[in-house]
Amino acid sequence: MPTNILFAATTDRWADYETPLTAALDASGLDYRLATDMPPETVDYIVYAPNSAVQDFTPYTRLKAVLNLWAGVENVTGNETLTVPLARMVDDEGLGQGMVEWVTGHVLRHHLGMDAHIVNPGRTWDDTAPPLSKDRPVTILGLGTLGQACASALRGLGFPVTGWSRSAKQVPGVRCLNGAEGLGAALDGARIVVLLLPDTAATESTLDAGALARLAPGAVVLNPGRGPLIDDAALLAALDSGQVGHATLDVFRVEPLPEDHPYWAHPKVTVTPHIASATRPESAARVIAENIRRGEAGEPLLHLVDRAAGY
Ligand SMILES: NC(=O)c1ccc[n+]([C@@H]2O[C@H](COP(=O)([O-])OP(=O)(O)OC[C@H]3O[C@@H](n4cnc5c(N)ncnc54)[C@H](OP(=O)(O)O)[C@@H]3O)[C@@H](O)[C@H]2O)c1
Repeated sequence: MPTNILFAATTDRWADYETPLTAALDASGLDYRLATDMPPETVDYIVYAPNSAVQDFTPYTRLKAVLNLWAGVENVTGNETLTVPLARMVDDEGLGQGMVEWVTGHVLRHHLGMDAHIVNPGRTWDDTAPPLSKDRPVTILGLGTLGQACASALRGLGFPVTGWSRSAKQVPGVRCLNGAEGLGAALDGARIVVLLLPDTAATESTLDAGALARLAPGAVVLNPGRGPLIDDAALLAALDSGQVGHATLDVFRVEPLPEDHPYWAHPKVTVTPHIASATRPESAARVIAENIRRGEAGEPLLHLVDRAAGY
């Protein structure tokens, strides 16, 4: 009997995924059926985007696992109708590489002071050289798949990098701190802080007024993680006081960011529209196919979400 795989995402995504997913499943040697619609009681696996029409998993009585197409799972972990394992998207080749490029690009923009030369209406000849990377400490909050990849890339460029996570970590060349007691030291004197934590009850407003006050004066905040990690009122106050020199924000509590939100008009804020890193169908399809192959072979699934921890 074939393994039945339901693709549950917004309809436009099927056009992107049908070919790569079919190729990856063929390559895995599975006997399968892949479709965007099938009777719920026949479905073995759901390839899932949290904004799809499937929100009640109760009718999927023989479901073995849900394979999320996104790295973030905050919209799924609380779904009490989901009682089977949930895997999130971990794809170094696509999602991971994209995040490394976005983070290093925006770190270098601020480190080199590129704006002063790109936008220079007064044709000012200011030949002040930027410091070297070794003098610009960067802190990454969240030292998971994406945080570690970004930490290693920035380390490779010469930045002193501190990373912070829940459990203790070891990343070559990176100062690793963890737990509530490690947060203050991770923030102290950081000149650039990058948020790559998941959105959970425990991470909400990690960057609040107290945390912002510990950064070096004029520090830069980059948020490619999730909107609720920041206390927005505290960040706006810190931007206005000069404690924070600039914030480049990709994610927000409400998306799309409402037109009248103060971030849009703020001269020290750059808004990017949740594009820091997208799931790339070709490489993500291989991750999904490998997990289904593992499930059917009785091997443990990769990238399982800890529902209690929320990520
Ligand atoms: N903007 C975009 O386009 C985009 C794209 C992809 C992902 N994202 C966001 O990036 C986030 C990170 O992705 P990932 O794949 O790197 O996730 P991950 O591998 O699960 O890593 C999460 C990291 O956060 C740490 N953490 C979680 N709760 C914590 C807490 N209470 N205190 C301290 N550290 C805590 C974890 O600690 P442990 O290591 O100890 O578990 C881990 O190091 C995603 O959740 C998603 O929201 C955004």
